[in-house]
Amino acid sequence: MFYINLIEKTMKNIQMVDLQGQMQRIRSEVDEEISKVIDECKYIGGKVVSLFEQSLSTYQRCKHTISCASGTDALQIAIMALELESEDEVIVPAFTYAAVIEVVLLLGLKPVLVDVDEDTYNISVEAVRRAITDRTKAIIPVHLFGHMADMQGIMTLADKHGIWIIEDNAQSIGSISTWNGRRSGTLGHIGCTSFFPTKNLGCLGDGGAINTNDTALRKKMRMVANHGQQQRYIHDCIGVNSRLDAIQAAVLTVQLKQLDTYISQRKNAAAFYDQHLAALKELILPRGNVYSDHVYHQYTIRVVDGRRDGLRAYLQDRGIPSSVYYPLPAHHQKAYANHVRHANLDTSTRLCEEVLSLPMHTELEEGQLDYICSQIHSFYSNG
Ligand SMILES: Cc1ncc(COP(=O)(O)O)c(C=O)c1O
Repeated sequence: MFYINLIEKTMKNIQMVDLQGQMQRIRSEVDEEISKVIDECKYIGGKVVSLFEQSLSTYQRCKHTISCASGTDALQIAIMALELESEDEVIVPAFTYAAVIEVVLLLGLKPVLVDVDEDTYNISVEAVRRAITDRTKAIIPVHLFGHMADMQGIMTLADKHGIWIIEDNAQSIGSISTWNGRRSGTLGHIGCTSFFPTKNLGCLGDGGAINTNDTALRKKMRMVANHGQQQRYIHDCIGVNSRLDAIQAAVLTVQLKQLDTYISQRKNAAAFYDQHLAALKELILPRGNVYSDHVYHQYTIRVVDGRRDGLRAYLQDRGIPSSVYYPLPAHHQKAYANHVRHANLDTSTRLCEEVLSLPMHTELEEGQLDYICSQIHSFYSNG
């Protein structure tokens, strides 16, 4: 309590994510764009949605964007468009958010869990190579925490074996591949993203989008997202109802113009952590610039002395929030354990015990960062 009182006197409360602060900066523009939608009474579809899709394609430097209702829907629509058969195998990382595994199972396919690289927390190309069988039809690399997976390695395997690649880009939009300079979400056949409010590009509710350069896939995914129809009331395939609301598209149009600024603010905060935590041998700091620049959706350290939960509690007592993404690997989740195939997942299992995400957002002030780092140092200097 003493510490919380101290920080209250000297600085703003520290939050994991500060959506209010970010919104304050763009509030008048957002209000204006939302008012236009209300004035036009075009709440579903319409110009604002298609203009946002065009702006996102331009930003992503890809041919097509299909907006939809969430990142989870984006993954589902993408997989449905590939017309896979029951029990076909889809390779996914074991250390990830549940959405991807859930969707594969919902569609009657077989998730094959593979391990991740401890350096990048992303799917290991070597593990993918070992997991490929003649039933493997798709691989879903998840670009976790703001840094891309090794897309060069993955695309090489995909080309060799004729496998679809769907990038889960929910956490890394805006990052640029060190392999070919392309934006994350546009290197595979399909890229999916989420506009959940806390994402680097977020809206005021749920939203998602799909990128592709493949015109046939675009056509199919548009159909799937719209009840399988191209023509009204004529249904050519089984689809879903998944739309980005016009009000969310209006908000995202404003947010997209800020995305590069948001990313550089996140990078500045990360550089501060990097510099001020580098001396602590008990921590392994996130590595950027391996397969892409790091856009720091999360700043996730590894606490390698076994004291992650102790550090977390110590920080919490001093008014510093932190999060564990993710505490349990997919193969240990009750919902999935009996439905997945996997080999060795030691790294994923260990990461779940070591990772700790520190506050990361666009509004972090130097005083707050300094306080966070000094409290981490004091945890270790007090033994
Ligand atoms: C890696 C990843 N994939 C998919 C999703 C699903 O996105 P949504 O919450 O918009 O459905 C998320 C959202 O947290 C995510 O982090």
